[in-house]
Amino acid sequence: MNNGDTMPAIGLGTWKSAPGEIGAALQEALRIGYRHLDCAAIYGNEAEIGAALRESFAAGLVRREELWITSKLWNTAHRTEDVVPALRKTLADLGLDYLDLYLIHWPVAMRPGAHYPRTAADMISLEETPLTATWSGMEAAKEAGLSRHIGVSNLSIAKLSGLLSEAKIRPEVNQIELHPYLQQGAMLEFCRAEGVQLTAYSPLGSRDRPEGLKAADEPVLLEDPTLQEIAARHDASVAQVLIAWAVHRGTSVIPKSVNPTRLAENLAAAELSLTSEDMTAIGSLDRHRRYVDGSIWAVEGGPYTIANLWDE
Ligand code: A2P
Repeated sequence: MNNGDTMPAIGLGTWKSAPGEIGAALQEALRIGYRHLDCAAIYGNEAEIGAALRESFAAGLVRREELWITSKLWNTAHRTEDVVPALRKTLADLGLDYLDLYLIHWPVAMRPGAHYPRTAADMISLEETPLTATWSGMEAAKEAGLSRHIGVSNLSIAKLSGLLSEAKIRPEVNQIELHPYLQQGAMLEFCRAEGVQLTAYSPLGSRDRPEGLKAADEPVLLEDPTLQEIAARHDASVAQVLIAWAVHRGTSVIPKSVNPTRLAENLAAAELSLTSEDMTAIGSLDRHRRYVDGSIWAVEGGPYTIANLWDE
């Protein structure tokens, strides 16, 4: 980060981790060495994560300062004055005094109370509540010491570049979907040049997404024959190849698991060295496939479309 803080490259994703299972999974993750935790208010499990963190601190498993904890602002709190209260609620749920990183979850604004969009009336356009207004709230949160770093998620190059030119405090991270089927080479180059860190979400293809967010014909990343062949050659799993690939590209990566064996397997991907031939072979797999395509925001008659969301 700009001030020399470091974010551990492999973090634990918590999207889709049910409230009843995340507590035990988190304690196991901390026990085996995870030090980076990716959360969000909308995941509906921050209170359970907070309880598990409190227990872990009390048991001496880990200290707060050893952890990197990220959370995200939901779409219903995009007005400048709503950001700090939303962050305070997340801090109260997590039982923390500060976050390491707070992100604007989506470049999409919604009416307070709307939660998920049902009709166009739930949506607020970016003309009415621009990202720069939300960013002012994020800057206030950082200045108040509530988050050590601030950033964004799901921003296109166009939106990120617009924000970078307006921001008083630059966004330090863009968290986006990244995996061999969605490599986003132009974004990687842009962020490298601008000194913005990328975090890769859905690195394993997020097969546990709700059915409504899945396409019938979608390719299954974990079953890709090229990845399977590389994994076999290294005596590793496909998941480990995917995580190592993300790290080799200089991104951080947040695979989600609630299973002790897979938690350990994913963290051990840090030891896997891919060859330049492996990287080239994986490089050829890109098919611009978004598993999280944002169509949920494209409510009929509303201001968002898939095209204007991704600017492509
Ligand atoms: P589980 O939580 O039961 O381990 P993503 O991180 O792309 O969102 O993917 C998460 C999905 O991948 C979950 O269904 C998770 O299941 C599964 N998963 C996590 N780690 C592995 C692994 N090492 N091998 C296979 N599947 C995994």
